[in-house]
Amino acid sequence: MTRLTVNNEAVEYRMAPDTPLLWALRDASNLTGTKYGCGTGSCGACTVDIDGKAVRSCQVALRDVEGTFVTTIEGLSRERAHPVQLALIAGNVPQCGYCIPGITMMAAALLKRDPMPSDEAIRAGITNICRCGIYPRLVEAIQRAGR
Ligand code: FES
Repeated sequence: MTRLTVNNEAVEYRMAPDTPLLWALRDASNLTGTKYGCGTGSCGACTVDIDGKAVRSCQVALRDVEGTFVTTIEGLSRERAHPVQLALIAGNVPQCGYCIPGITMMAAALLKRDPMPSDEAIRAGITNICRCGIYPRLVEAIQRAGR
């Protein structure tokens, strides 16, 4: 059994210890905003916040998250939309939308570290893959969210 805190609620996962956190969140907690894209740590669709750091949840086993505090996209915007979400909407950034939860989690973590990131810092910090190619609008939106 793995005990941790997800979106400010204590949870216990009775799953194999090598189960990726992604599947515990989606299958046991029904937090399906966290997406499966590649399963290899490349695309970032599965990004969540673990103890203040943006992490690809497909690459983290349950045995490694005992006692941690995890925030998913549902937790990030529980009471009101996060500034990154508002900026993404204002900039008409999402297309198909599949990568957006992971990008939002990554951008929120970036802005916590660096509220006024440069273009270069955003391009280096947001390593998520978007097959629709929203990158130019995304950089502008993240800068707007930080202001
Ligand atoms: Fe985890 Fe792609 S699904 S990085």
